Amino acid sequence: MQDKTVAKLISAEEKRQREGLELIPSENYVSQEVLQAMGSVFTNKYSEGYPGKRYYGGQVNTDALEQLAINRAKALFHSDHANVQSNSGAPANEAVYHSWLEPGDTIMGMELSHGGHLTHGRPGTISAKLFNFVRYGIKDIETGEIDYDQMLEVARQTKPKIILAGFSSYPRELNYAKFAEIGAEVGAVLMADMAHIAGLIAGGVLKNPFDFGFHVMTTTTHKTLRGPRGAMILSQGTVSNPLKAVDKTIANLPTLIDRTVFPGLQGGPHMHIIAAKAVALYEAAQPEFKIYCQQVLANAQALSSELMSNGIKLITNGTDNHMMLADIYSSFGFDGSVAEQTLDRIGLTLNKNVIPDDPLPPYRPSGIRLGTPAITTRGLKVEHMPQIARWIKEALDSHNDETKLDKLAHEVKNFASAFPLP
Ligand SMILES: Cc1ncc(COP(=O)(O)O)c(C=O)c1O
Repeated sequence: MQDKTVAKLISAEEKRQREGLELIPSENYVSQEVLQAMGSVFTNKYSEGYPGKRYYGGQVNTDALEQLAINRAKALFHSDHANVQSNSGAPANEAVYHSWLEPGDTIMGMELSHGGHLTHGRPGTISAKLFNFVRYGIKDIETGEIDYDQMLEVARQTKPKIILAGFSSYPRELNYAKFAEIGAEVGAVLMADMAHIAGLIAGGVLKNPFDFGFHVMTTTTHKTLRGPRGAMILSQGTVSNPLKAVDKTIANLPTLIDRTVFPGLQGGPHMHIIAAKAVALYEAAQPEFKIYCQQVLANAQALSSELMSNGIKLITNGTDNHMMLADIYSSFGFDGSVAEQTLDRIGLTLNKNVIPDDPLPPYRPSGIRLGTPAITTRGLKVEHMPQIARWIKEALDSHNDETKLDKLAHEVKNFASAFPLP
């Protein structure tokens, strides 16, 4: 590469990834094939519109490529339609809100400190300025069970037009049948934001909201699905010409969504990313991906019991999915950002996180969030989880002891180097 400055940063980042262990639950390592597709000549092409209906010439390959990605997404998640153009998780959620709602309408989402994502109505976001968000949350912090009675009561009072199931820091499975019951009673569109767990749904180890009557599902493609940074919007209904206006009916949801993504929110789709999404969807349909997903869950189970046996308190006392939330403040007496920095120092990357009804402020919250998707891609198995839990415990016990942290950093680097990046 001529540009030595960028070349140096790329190789430094590769080294950092190789020598450390990635425990951020929303991150993963893509295959060489996904990387190649992202770096392909499809980045040169403008293709505003949809397959067969473009505003520019020269679309013979882009049409075939986008249609392939759409077909693979539909088959993998059992949906009538897939929009694969959405650039990331936040605009994908925005697109669904805008395709169905008018300003001032109500969306019911998960309490943010109980696990809901910023795009589910965090004050200050564009959607929170335009729409009215009401909340459901956890009833019992020990089990993580959602308070479905409270949810029904609030839904009856506020009549949300969308009920949103989804989270970025919740370690349990949602009861989609309950969501569907409540949605049917108040006439809401059922939306699932499966950004974190889409790969695990595709791999058959977690439930698919579409099996419970959900109408629409958004997901990022770069987390457990192990694809490029990007998103998809899957929906049920009739697919018609996205360049022609349609009535706002539930059957028309796929077309309403397509029209909101383009021309509503975006211009030309990122075709090189769509190429990489197609490759990731192909990979996720292979039998090895099921095995990968089973291992992600087995590793998460093993890591959560090892953390707890080292005296680290986990929110809900464990996990049903790929992620864990640890209450650092009660376990060690300091906040999650100290834990994040200490563990970063020894090569274990994870993030500080609020815990339900956190007594500390969001920029220095009580918890950390960690997960197993990336280390499982690296090839780590259940037998490696006790070692990771021990490193976490020892580093946090000695967070002021530079000599001890140096020793642990050396151990992590040696260990990680035995598990090459894909
Ligand atoms: C549940 C959920 N939705 C949406 C997003 C936003 O995705 P992006 O960062 O790609 O915009 C995230 C990202 O972490 C997420 O966890």
